[in-house]
Amino acid sequence: MKVKNQNYQTVWMQASSVFMIEQNLLPFEFKIFESINYLQTCQAIKTMIVRGAGAIGATAGFAMAQASIEASNLSKEKYILFLNKALKNIEATRPTAQNLFMATSRVYKKALISRELAILEAQKIADEDAMACKKIGEFGNKLIKPNYKIATHCNAGWLAFIDYGSALSPVYEANKQGKNIFVWVDETRPRSQGARLTAWELKNENVAHKIIADNATAHLMSQGQIDMIITGADRIAANGDTANKIGTLEKAIAAKYYGIPFYVAAPTSTFDKNTATGKDIKIEERSQDEVLYQTGLNKNNKLEKILVASPNSEAFNPAFDVTPVELITGFITEEGISR
Ligand code: MRU
Repeated sequence: MKVKNQNYQTVWMQASSVFMIEQNLLPFEFKIFESINYLQTCQAIKTMIVRGAGAIGATAGFAMAQASIEASNLSKEKYILFLNKALKNIEATRPTAQNLFMATSRVYKKALISRELAILEAQKIADEDAMACKKIGEFGNKLIKPNYKIATHCNAGWLAFIDYGSALSPVYEANKQGKNIFVWVDETRPRSQGARLTAWELKNENVAHKIIADNATAHLMSQGQIDMIITGADRIAANGDTANKIGTLEKAIAAKYYGIPFYVAAPTSTFDKNTATGKDIKIEERSQDEVLYQTGLNKNNKLEKILVASPNSEAFNPAFDVTPVELITGFITEEGISR
């Protein structure tokens, strides 16, 4: 997608470095972060310089390719030990998104043969991600009627993938076709991926939208202000139960009550056939600071972290929830729409 008239992907690899858009600084500052080794790339995933299921999947694949480059001067035995350690470290960065585990294991298998194959495989994963998202846009667009008001949650746009996005890809396609659509963007506390990232993306693409507080969606549904909901997914269990950003479940419950279609858009790389149901999905718990503090621009145009809760209270911060498959109208994937 374009930023200031220049084409960007969210993450890419060049020689032995991985480059990524620094998402913690958006929408205030657009900066590219360069990671020069696999441990730095792990840290970038942990600290959410890069985030979103597809983007962290591709980044994890690149991290494994970096590890194979870093170890390439070692003896065969030490090379394999290094790769095994890297596999563990990369998989320990974030537990919920299926794409991270898919990409790490695919590149690991190739790295056991050669570093050249590892690099090729990592790039292939990134390319597949972008192509799948493009297709999701084409299929998802068919569900969108002119003048639709669409609600989404968190950021499942191009920043969460290599390009195009999952939930936002159909939105971009519909907008390109002049369907006069409108998007409700909920803020998505605690990290505000909706208010910060989705709103920034939609603004760049000239899609009409408004940011709403997280707790405003059910009210808008009750007022007939939402025609459909499209969210992304971090992991979809074999039975269709879907883990996505915390707050998705309550939107799905409200949508069912008001008879509003609730679609999940995700590439097939997010489906995990080895996890039977949503109960088996590991939910990441993140630092309580993400709830207690907010970071934004101060009056001097500097990023500042401030306390926004009662001092000395503790917080609990589960990063995802699981929406049972009964609440999901359909899945939009690169293979089509399944119900
Ligand atoms: O914690 P994040 O920002 O990595 O969360 C992932 C997400 O962006 C959302 O859950 C999204 O809807 C699915 S990922 C495309």
